[in-house]
Amino acid sequence: MLRARIVGTGSYVPEKVLTNQDLEAMVETSDTWISTRTGIRERRVCVTDTTADMASKAAKNALKAAGVSPKDIDLIVVGTVTPEMAFPATACLVQSDLGVRSGAAAFDVSAACSGFLYALDIANKYIKSGEVKKALVIGVDRFSKIIDWKDRATCVLFGDGAGAVVLSAEKGSKGVLSCHIHSDGKHWDMLYAQNSCPQTPFEDKEQASPFLKMNGNETFKIAVRTMGNAITEAMETNGLTADNISLLIPHQANLRIINATRDRLKLTDDKVYTNLDRYGNTSAGSIPLALDEAVRTGKIKDGDVIVFVSFGGGLTWASAAVKW
Ligand code: UT7
Repeated sequence: MLRARIVGTGSYVPEKVLTNQDLEAMVETSDTWISTRTGIRERRVCVTDTTADMASKAAKNALKAAGVSPKDIDLIVVGTVTPEMAFPATACLVQSDLGVRSGAAAFDVSAACSGFLYALDIANKYIKSGEVKKALVIGVDRFSKIIDWKDRATCVLFGDGAGAVVLSAEKGSKGVLSCHIHSDGKHWDMLYAQNSCPQTPFEDKEQASPFLKMNGNETFKIAVRTMGNAITEAMETNGLTADNISLLIPHQANLRIINATRDRLKLTDDKVYTNLDRYGNTSAGSIPLALDEAVRTGKIKDGDVIVFVSFGGGLTWASAAVKW
């Protein structure tokens, strides 16, 4: 049976660090409030990098780690809700930046913080069908562009970043074991950002705000419940118990959500990877950025079972289980 094996990971964050102390000078907030309510201490923000720059740099690092040439990539799927342009897809810009061959397929997926797992699910299905041999799956977001930097309720939460994996079709037991993707559009207004296109001369309504809006409390409650259910779905599909999970890599939105999920699943702290203290919530970038760090710091070994779980605007949620 063909499986999509992760043969290389990469990530990229912009150089500029914005600390909680920096934010104290911008809005009425405090390091204590931010770190105790969210676990975040600093985040990265783009100065010169764009969404496509971050995606290409993460993808280059993943290709290098995999020892795979861009010429061998058949498919690029990018999860993002802050694309470089309305069109073409950020994936096409990455294709051009990396020199991926003409004729490969490249497209974006809009699933907010679940964007990477949605992209992984799609690429996994193409690989299992035999149509694609090697794929690049990227999660990237540049929320600094859609944040109201005067709104303390949201500006302290997010950061910019990207992560990528190279998938290769291989026979055997290693690779993606399962992916589950879900959404519930009736809760779209919990977390959203409207398009910031200018008004046409034919419209008579007010120009929409381009900034991200979030109902933090409600999103928090749904996130705790939904992430736990999503992990349970991955565990039941693969006959896993908490003991069989080597590492859980959750979406990095809030340490309190992650800890509540950890406790519900009865996982020990060492089995849950977090890096939101340094990057905040990077939306679709969050899971692949954490995965790349875990790989590069030796936290993942051959044969380990890794579970990913996400939750975000849509509302969307997703899980995946991978044998390393
Ligand atoms: O990635 C997609 C999914 N997103 C999420 O999962 C985010 C989920 N939500 C959360 O993480 C949390 O709800 C937040 C971190 C956004 C907020 O934490 P909270 O414990 O739910 O705080 P709150 O919204 O209930 O606000 C408590 C107080 C309020 O003041 P009053 O009304 O009690 O006087 C806020 O005005 O904290 C105030 N507040 C702040 N104070 C200092 C809100 N933001 C700030 C701030 N600094 N940055």
